[in-house]
Amino acid sequence: MPNNLVIVANRLPVDRVEQADGTPGWRLSPGGLVTAIEPVMRANDGVWLGWPGGTDQDLEPFEHDGMSLVPMSMSQTDIELFYEGFSNGTLWPLYHDLVAKPEFHREWWDAYVSVNRRFAEKAADNAAEGATVWVHDYQLQLVPQMLREIRPDLRIGFYLHIPFPPGELFQQLPWRRQLLEGLLGADLVGFQGHGAAGNFVRLVRQRVGHKTHKDLVYLPDGRTVRAAAFPISIDSQGFEDLATSEPVAARAKEIREALGSPTKVFLGIDRLDYTKGIYARLRAFSELIADGHLDVEDAVFVQVAVPSREQVEQYRILRDDIDRLVGRINGDLGRIGRPAISYLHSSYPREEMAALYRSADIMVVTPYRDGMNLVAKEYVACRTDNTGALVLSEFAGAAEELRQAWLVNPYDINGMKSALLEAYRAEPKETTRRMKAMRRTVTQNDVAAWADSFMTELADVRSSHGKAVRPAKRS
Ligand code: G6P
Repeated sequence: MPNNLVIVANRLPVDRVEQADGTPGWRLSPGGLVTAIEPVMRANDGVWLGWPGGTDQDLEPFEHDGMSLVPMSMSQTDIELFYEGFSNGTLWPLYHDLVAKPEFHREWWDAYVSVNRRFAEKAADNAAEGATVWVHDYQLQLVPQMLREIRPDLRIGFYLHIPFPPGELFQQLPWRRQLLEGLLGADLVGFQGHGAAGNFVRLVRQRVGHKTHKDLVYLPDGRTVRAAAFPISIDSQGFEDLATSEPVAARAKEIREALGSPTKVFLGIDRLDYTKGIYARLRAFSELIADGHLDVEDAVFVQVAVPSREQVEQYRILRDDIDRLVGRINGDLGRIGRPAISYLHSSYPREEMAALYRSADIMVVTPYRDGMNLVAKEYVACRTDNTGALVLSEFAGAAEELRQAWLVNPYDINGMKSALLEAYRAEPKETTRRMKAMRRTVTQNDVAAWADSFMTELADVRSSHGKAVRPAKRS
């Protein structure tokens, strides 16, 4: 059935789970994107196209929780060359400041082109005449142009969830021009920040030779493409409600007791990714203990590392490095029943995350580069009593909005040590002043506002001929 709105993302918003009776079923993935997009999908008979994970072939479209989902299958070779290879071995490190060395392989690129084509064709099959198609993230940057070639009637939006690098780095890519042209198939290209949008427009001018003016690109065929910043957010109200619920409050208390009721709990929650700066932050914390500024009787660092992309070599190396570091720190500095670091390699449901946020006095978010970092915003949303301190990397997109955090340069270990200690010693008056301001920001700019502003902007793009998408009705 053709749809007026097609969401195209590498992943579907559901994960496969085993149901109570042992049969396979689906569960809505944790994460804000689905919360934001679901109401817009409902208002427009939307459909979501993406990979459900795994190598199942020929899965039929299905409904989950009132949402129409179209699963895209991936073969083992697609996973190795397109997903682990070009997406996460080339683009991911290239777009994150070369924190790891990107690899350039022609067979990875070929797989990227053919998987993108498959997504574009499937999107074309599912879109009604004049429909809106919203393509997401770095795995699918060729889809806008491929789709436009098949279906010039469509209104196409693209949103990049990760940073877009400066030209000096981007131009290493042997296929730089093809990627830029892929994105220019969209009417609106959205980025997390103004810096990223500026990088894109500059590259288009220099590398592709199109005329540009501010955030507009003028194509030779008369079409105009707009490139602008739409900083993403979270379901702030949802987190706030969860954090204040009775079971989460009880669980937060239990967590602190299980940790031995220390004076202060430090917390890090990240996908286990080399961009997140986990190693450096744990070193900074351990040095504060070794130097005698902190004592394991008073302070503990809870680090949750969510397993991620485990078949990619850089991620395996990182896991080993962190395992070794945590073992050494605890061996050197811990006491019986008092490890310096409580390390969990696991993923948790939203309820447990909210309980962890509630139980932590100092949240430590120190990526070397991050498009936004939603963990920082989730922590703030959960601190409904205006307590708690946030130590945040200057290189996370979130730092542009959460100015009242203790901002740090994650490459500067001494600077991080000072910030951790300041946050630890801060007077409640000071932390409350800062948290209040940050809470205002996160409450006012939630993920629904983000989706609305992107959709409204897309509907306004002059060059497009498609029908406008109706904004979702919100209570
Ligand atoms: C980042 C990317 C997403 C991606 C997610 C999880 O947030 O921007 O596109 O889905 O990481 O990574 P994974 O490789 O497991 O999909």
